[in-house]
Amino acid sequence: MLIEPCAWEGAWSGLEADNYAGLYGNRSSHPTKGFSMPKSYAIAAEDIAAETARVDGDLTNFDVSRVIALSDVELREMGPGDVHLRILAVSAEHNVDHAALADTVNIAEARGGKIYPGNSALGEVIAVGEGVTRFAPGDIAITHCNGEPDAHGYPLRIWAYDQPESIGWYGEEAVVADWQLIPAPLDCGLNLWEIAALPLRAPTAYHLWRRAIGIYRVKVERRQRSQLTVLGFGGGVSELFLMIAAQEGHRALFCSGSAERRAHLEGLGIEGIDQHEFNRFASRDDVRAFSKHVKGLTGGEGAHIVCDMLRGPVFAAGLQVMARMGVNVSAGWQLDTAANYNSANLSVRQLTLDHVHFETIEGSAAATELYGRVFRPTVHKEIYAFGDLPRAMEEMHQNVQTGIPIVQVAADLPDSVASLVP
Ligand SMILES: NC(=O)c1ccc[n+]([C@@H]2O[C@H](COP(=O)([O-])OP(=O)(O)OC[C@H]3O[C@@H](n4cnc5c(N)ncnc54)[C@H](OP(=O)(O)O)[C@@H]3O)[C@@H](O)[C@H]2O)c1
Repeated sequence: MLIEPCAWEGAWSGLEADNYAGLYGNRSSHPTKGFSMPKSYAIAAEDIAAETARVDGDLTNFDVSRVIALSDVELREMGPGDVHLRILAVSAEHNVDHAALADTVNIAEARGGKIYPGNSALGEVIAVGEGVTRFAPGDIAITHCNGEPDAHGYPLRIWAYDQPESIGWYGEEAVVADWQLIPAPLDCGLNLWEIAALPLRAPTAYHLWRRAIGIYRVKVERRQRSQLTVLGFGGGVSELFLMIAAQEGHRALFCSGSAERRAHLEGLGIEGIDQHEFNRFASRDDVRAFSKHVKGLTGGEGAHIVCDMLRGPVFAAGLQVMARMGVNVSAGWQLDTAANYNSANLSVRQLTLDHVHFETIEGSAAATELYGRVFRPTVHKEIYAFGDLPRAMEEMHQNVQTGIPIVQVAADLPDSVASLVP
């Protein structure tokens, strides 16, 4: 099906249709020229059901690449406050894994049988609505995933997940409102793939950190205690969280099963702990051994701040090693949604558990200021082609990547970012 051209024409500013076609290069998806519709990845409830049946309900054998499929997407008509983006690169994100597995909620089914996932992207502006002043054609922008801010600016819903009608950015093109975009900090010192690794994970880490340190400082003021021990468990968000902690002068410990990620962080002054040495906390003895190790590293005191993100066995291990007055923060539930604890024990130790979702829009912009200065993400060694996005998601699911997975969506990158491609 083709998009009606007339509604687009009036909303463009700063660019004539012919120039617009020029920005596309040789691509054949110009909506006003009668070419094909843009392609985008989708997750359909019927494919989830088929894969669940194939593995007989055993999610350990589930192949997420079998339920993430390329599909035509009908972009909404451009409004005066809208921006038309050509997606250049995206990062694979775990919420897509959760959507494909339907392990937290079957979001594809809840949204009518299909979602278009992907809520972290870097794109080139190819047209703007007449009311848009923050962006012009040719600009490079990054996204945030706050789909609908509440009265305090925090998301009620997440874009390309539970925000109704939202179409994600694992596609060739997108139309978004300008408030969903932040100018990409191309001069921050990071390469293009490193910048593309950060739009979702960096604001999450930033929010987790400002909550954790704020809560800790309510209990123990800076004049009483300056340097803290901060522990994070594997994953892209935790590593960024630890980069802020280290930058602010704290001692940072990264407990991960990935030697490559630990090595990268050690280069930034963040100490590594091999999670496999503690059998990923499979038994109580493993948790005790881990606790003894961390207490040994910290003169018996433990970690003042713990970033969990995974729950499951990691949650118990994180609680065990916490120092008095400690704060445990998480915005994820990769291994389990439930977290059991002894309230009396936590009260006596003055521990706080904080549950975080996602940043405000202004917080997302503030996090972007730290690209390159603080955030220096690990990037998986393979940059995936657009057609390999389902494999990228499955390899993330299998936890065999060496860093944050990046997918190059546009084969032809604009000159403005050419020098940033390593
Ligand atoms: N609320 C939000 O805004 C938000 C934002 C981003 C992410 N999240 C959620 O947070 C969680 C983590 O996301 P992320 O982006 O940081 O993850 P990520 O970069 O994809 O990394 C996930 C990490 O999980 C670890 N892991 C995998 N299997 C494990 C196991 N069986 N036991 C222990 N660790 C295991 C791996 O670390 P090692 O192998 O190195 O140990 C892996 O690096 C996900 O559930 C995601 O949905 C939430």
